[in-house]
Amino acid sequence: MRYHIVTYGCQMNLHESEKAAGMLEDRGYVPTDRIDEADLILFNTCCIREGAENRALGNIGAVKKLKAKNPNLITVVLGCMPQQPGKAEILRKKFPFVDIVLGTHNVVTLGEKLDALQERGRICEIIEEDASDMDAPAAVRTSGLNAWINISYGCNNFCTYCIVPYVRGREHSRAPEAVIEEARRAIEAGYREITLLGQNVNSYGNDIRDDSVTFPALLRSLGSLSGEFRIKYMTSHPKDFNRDVAEAMNSSEKIAKVLHLPVQSGSTRILKEMNRKYTAEEYLKKTELVRRIIPDVGLTTDVMIGFPGETDDDFDATMSLVERVRFDNMFMFVYSRRSGTVADRMPDQVPEDVKNRRIRALVEAHRRISAEVASECVGKTYRALVETRDGKTVATTDCGRFVTLKDDAPSMHGRFAKVEIIGHRASKLIGRIAADET
Ligand code: 5AD
Ligand code: SF4
Repeated sequence: MRYHIVTYGCQMNLHESEKAAGMLEDRGYVPTDRIDEADLILFNTCCIREGAENRALGNIGAVKKLKAKNPNLITVVLGCMPQQPGKAEILRKKFPFVDIVLGTHNVVTLGEKLDALQERGRICEIIEEDASDMDAPAAVRTSGLNAWINISYGCNNFCTYCIVPYVRGREHSRAPEAVIEEARRAIEAGYREITLLGQNVNSYGNDIRDDSVTFPALLRSLGSLSGEFRIKYMTSHPKDFNRDVAEAMNSSEKIAKVLHLPVQSGSTRILKEMNRKYTAEEYLKKTELVRRIIPDVGLTTDVMIGFPGETDDDFDATMSLVERVRFDNMFMFVYSRRSGTVADRMPDQVPEDVKNRRIRALVEAHRRISAEVASECVGKTYRALVETRDGKTVATTDCGRFVTLKDDAPSMHGRFAKVEIIGHRASKLIGRIAADET
């Protein structure tokens, strides 16, 4: 019995697919890259933007043909898309060949649902209450040298454009002991990178009645584990990012010096409408603070254009913030209306042609700035994790920069080394191994 998983959306989803794979492999399934050869096809869905939903809907629809060829094919739809009010019912009606539909709070029950499928027939189960335990039996990790580890689930922030709090519920932190134990096991198993996952890692522990459980404390504990590895994390909310976190990042060489700090907009007026709870000036101060404490920090961000009411002046403010901070990398999004969110009900939705013009200008600025930032790296040497991917040797620096190595060095796979940057092509860095560190 072979399974094929299609995942949409964020790292949280990628990791949940790994958990689903664990439950399938426990039941004797083996993975296949070919969807047309699978006995079970699983779609782990996303609904953060309309495009993500449409892609999933198109691909789920295409399974109809495969099911006609193989009536025993099992089709599963999981995650954020069916968790939206009324969506699971629409999916069931539109796609009668889908066997199991589960929302975000009961993904980890997939195994038992599969066991019950024969007896129960089609299963569609969406539960509203936040799961108290989202920890699944062993995940099948699929991300090379990196192991994803959840530190929290859900989000309490209610940014007005965002559907995440509605489909993933309130924030719920895992116990630090559980996180540390999972990290220790991953390191023992040979993973060289641990990426901590939470919608807002900085509020980790706020729901645990113990003041010593905080994100900086967790980082310090993980940084003091023995072994050869490094720790990354995502995502930070700027309102909660502070000196304590930056200092904790500096407490150990094992904590990567990279920070993903989504700004969304450079206009304080729009940030207020987004319910982000910081001003553009406060955001700039935080980037200056982190660069003072960690001079080589790699800074990345998310920027959204076209939020309702965004004027040319607001967009100019975003452009000037981007020019000032000079991020290493930027993920750029066009605002997408999400039913049920506050912003969906706001007047002054921005016309498509204006959105298109703004996103093009932003992408262009990013292209120029990231090439300039790359040129400034040439001649510098960074500590990096070396990896062989698809036969090519690459490295990611501790400050999050991706480097293609000039010479292949398969024997260095999984090792930390000093990498010297010897050139760049646009924003892409080219380097060579300077000295083996291990
Ligand atoms: N439209 C466009 N982008 C969105 N994001 C979240 N919600 C929306 C939306 N409705 C973006 C934000 C967030 C990233 C993960 O996705 O920039 O940081
Ligand atoms: Fe969405 Fe805001 Fe929560 Fe991020 S912090 S998941 S953007 S509501």
